[in-house]
Amino acid sequence: MEKKIFIKTLGCQMNEYDSNRIYDSVKRLGFEKTKDQENLDCYVLNTCHIRDKAKEKVYHEIGRVKELYKEKNKPIIVVAGCVAQAENQEMLKREPYIDIVIGPQSYHKINDKLLNFIKGNKIEETEFDAVSKFNYFDNIKNKENKISSYLTIQEGCDKFCTFCVVPYTRGPEYSRPFNKIISETESLIKSGAKEIILLGQNVNAYSYKEKSKVYRISDLINKLESYSELKRIRFTTSHPRDMTDDLIECYSTSKKLMPFVHLPIQSGSNKILKLMNRKHTVEKYIEIYEKLIKINPEIKFSSDFLISYPGETNDDFTETLSLVKKIKFINSFSFIFSPRPGTKAANLDQIDKEISQERLLKIQEYLFKFQLNLNESFINKTIDVLIENELEGQNKLFGRNQYMNSVIFEGNKNLIGKNINIKIERVNQKSLFGKVEKNNMRAA
Ligand code: SAM
Ligand code: SF4
Ligand code: F3S
Repeated sequence: MEKKIFIKTLGCQMNEYDSNRIYDSVKRLGFEKTKDQENLDCYVLNTCHIRDKAKEKVYHEIGRVKELYKEKNKPIIVVAGCVAQAENQEMLKREPYIDIVIGPQSYHKINDKLLNFIKGNKIEETEFDAVSKFNYFDNIKNKENKISSYLTIQEGCDKFCTFCVVPYTRGPEYSRPFNKIISETESLIKSGAKEIILLGQNVNAYSYKEKSKVYRISDLINKLESYSELKRIRFTTSHPRDMTDDLIECYSTSKKLMPFVHLPIQSGSNKILKLMNRKHTVEKYIEIYEKLIKINPEIKFSSDFLISYPGETNDDFTETLSLVKKIKFINSFSFIFSPRPGTKAANLDQIDKEISQERLLKIQEYLFKFQLNLNESFINKTIDVLIENELEGQNKLFGRNQYMNSVIFEGNKNLIGKNINIKIERVNQKSLFGKVEKNNMRAA
């Protein structure tokens, strides 16, 4: 009989990609994906360790599942992802309801671990082995069939920003072989992908050497450009230090690379960037911004901001605000510094909570305002939208514009997967609402 599995995914896009690959792997053992959490044979929690009480959230969620199965046979409980990597066997000791703990670089062993568990052994597996992992998954078809599909090309990080757990939870930087990424691209396109989002913790650090050639992310973009069925290319998350000229050039040569650059800066103060070990300055960031805008004035920027890093004064914060006003970032993320165990900044003196909260609200006020201003600039204009799906329970379609903003409108389901011109009628800070422009359809 077919077994049922559900994966709850927290954290970044890389976790979403990983969860889909775990589904692809366990299918070989007869596990079928389900949304019905009350009748499971296996429950997987794919965790994130980046901020706050990540660990506590995991135990809380496992407690919820335990409650759900109080009167029934329990499913196999797997904790995967970055908290699993950081906590490893501690988790099995603290919560015996957990059966398997598996870190992100060990997912190629998931089937063996499940089989072994069924034989009666509790399991912890948190080795760093990116090569074996990707070799294993290269031989299993990626069954993703979304219009906009993720594709991990690079994992891990060697940069060690003082506040960040990623180098510890995802291990050293590793770039997948160029030809394996291309095979996976072709398979995603065959399954209907019209947009590919290349993923990595430092995606623009992608570097793969074969014979005498070093492949960079610009080579991948140029190759993806040649697939006529593919309409859009994006990549995330980039580091300013790896924003090289060959990649910048793609924003002029590629017709499919969207004019939207997510480039985290964290702070607008050089003093704070240095304390964070960011390896770039504000001037370097502005230089990249200016080069890109010169090459393509349509480009918009988004960023991540880390507020109240230990030592951040009002003047440092004001410098961050000045940068926000200069670049007019859209779609950005802002977080108050959260000390992560094991990182260099873990034990530094934290800034007063109230001051931090005020700073966060201030920066968000600007970020939201710039977002709304951009959205309002589309009112009464016709924009190109890639239609991704129908909104569940509503008779409406959902797509995105070139800047990743949601566009919602009424339309026939056969438009899914096509680029359509939509006339925008109204907007809010998050979404644009409009209607299909008659007689104005782009080639699908
Ligand atoms: N590699 C990307 C870069 O260098 O900008 C960032 C990846 S990290 C998964 C995403 C974001 O989480 C970071 O840009 C940072 O703003 C935020 N972040 C990381 N550690 C944090 C911490 N300790 N507290 C609060 N936010 C944090
Ligand atoms: Fe974390 Fe810094 Fe690496 Fe980004 S570059 S993943 S913020 S350590
Ligand atoms: Fe979180 Fe790990 Fe991604 S800590 S942000 S799930 S790399």
